[in-house]
Amino acid sequence: MLRTNLPAAQRMMERLDALARHTDEPGKLTRLYLSPAHKAAMAEVAGWMREAGLNPVIDAVGTISARYEGSEPGLPALLLGSHIDSVRDAGKYDGPLGVLAALAVVEELQRMGERLPFAIEILAFGDEEGVRFPMTLSGSKAVAGKFDMAALAGRDKDGISLGEALSGFGYDTSAIPAIARKKEDVLAYLELHIEQGPVLEAENQPLGIVSAIASIARLNVTLTGVAGHAGTVPMAYRKDALVAAAAMIVETEAIARAMPGLVATTGRIEAKPGAVNVIAGDVAFSLDIRAPEDEVRRAGVERILTACRAIAEARGIGITIDAGYEEEAALCNPLIKEALGAAITAFGYRPITLPSGAGHDAMAFVDLCPMGMLFLRCKDGISHNPAESITPEDGEIALAALLHVVRNLDPKAFTVKA
Ligand code: HGY
Ligand code: MN
Ligand code: MN
Repeated sequence: MLRTNLPAAQRMMERLDALARHTDEPGKLTRLYLSPAHKAAMAEVAGWMREAGLNPVIDAVGTISARYEGSEPGLPALLLGSHIDSVRDAGKYDGPLGVLAALAVVEELQRMGERLPFAIEILAFGDEEGVRFPMTLSGSKAVAGKFDMAALAGRDKDGISLGEALSGFGYDTSAIPAIARKKEDVLAYLELHIEQGPVLEAENQPLGIVSAIASIARLNVTLTGVAGHAGTVPMAYRKDALVAAAAMIVETEAIARAMPGLVATTGRIEAKPGAVNVIAGDVAFSLDIRAPEDEVRRAGVERILTACRAIAEARGIGITIDAGYEEEAALCNPLIKEALGAAITAFGYRPITLPSGAGHDAMAFVDLCPMGMLFLRCKDGISHNPAESITPEDGEIALAALLHVVRNLDPKAFTVKA
């Protein structure tokens, strides 16, 4: 369908490969927030921004921003962003695609000598995945004026707090509140992201319009049983924290299967002392619970935690539940959805609208400005996995669609809230 020749698209694909080199785990892609790999990736992205004649600025939570002025200086900005941190053993497109596509949009506008009736601000956030610290969306929340300074006390698995890690990067955490953008300076927020699911590929369509971003809760469950000798303690006498955790995780799955729209995942579990011949006395495991609607997610959390407490009670196991974080479902802006639909249709594709089960930086912006997301299909819908992939043709289609949106966006249509 679409035949374009966008030199910036080819460069974007090459840069996605180059950025994937920055990892904290040789042999796989793991780039956690405020890690050496994140620092190296920031330097590379800032370098590409400078090559494009932009002036990248790094704020007090490690977000890189670079501004391409509109037809006159100081106009409200369309924010185009995503994240450059990753999960463990990640793919190379979840996050960086949105950042490097935003840079490619500016490079194409520059190549054509275009200035728009608004500015464009490219944002590369450092903490969307929330893998290292208990909170997430640090960068996007700071820009959106939602950063909770109490989060600075959150600690990673080595006991380093977010505040200490930021200071270690040379940032002044007292400057965080000043990162917040004023409503009148922001036109909208738009993020390109891989779908991370199978729908677009199944529909044989490259692009999708996101309707809303799922409601999410992350919690940590800590169980206290009695460590004991694997050979001498009869089964009836055991207070095995790992078996209790297993029962809770299986029950969690059953509850999620029974509640339409609910998904629940235990992605991490630690058992102590972790010896093959010792009954586990202490176990900690994660719960990630989501649904398209807040009330379904909340009901799911309630049912799952009630079941966990009942299992702990029945087994004589101590249980504590720490709420990690929760994000309400975020609706995408109708005007942006319309603009995305016009772009997709203009290139002869079918404008498919779909919800996002994954969380994104975009959800932080729902109260600051109109927010939207464009999805790009990825092979077999795989993500959070090194097999994550997109084709260069689809990369070019996504860039062409973003360019169509920015060239046709009417700033007057967005009541710039004072
Ligand atoms: O967990 C998520 O949905 C996102 O990838 N951080
Ligand atoms: Mn992502
Ligand atoms: Mn992700």
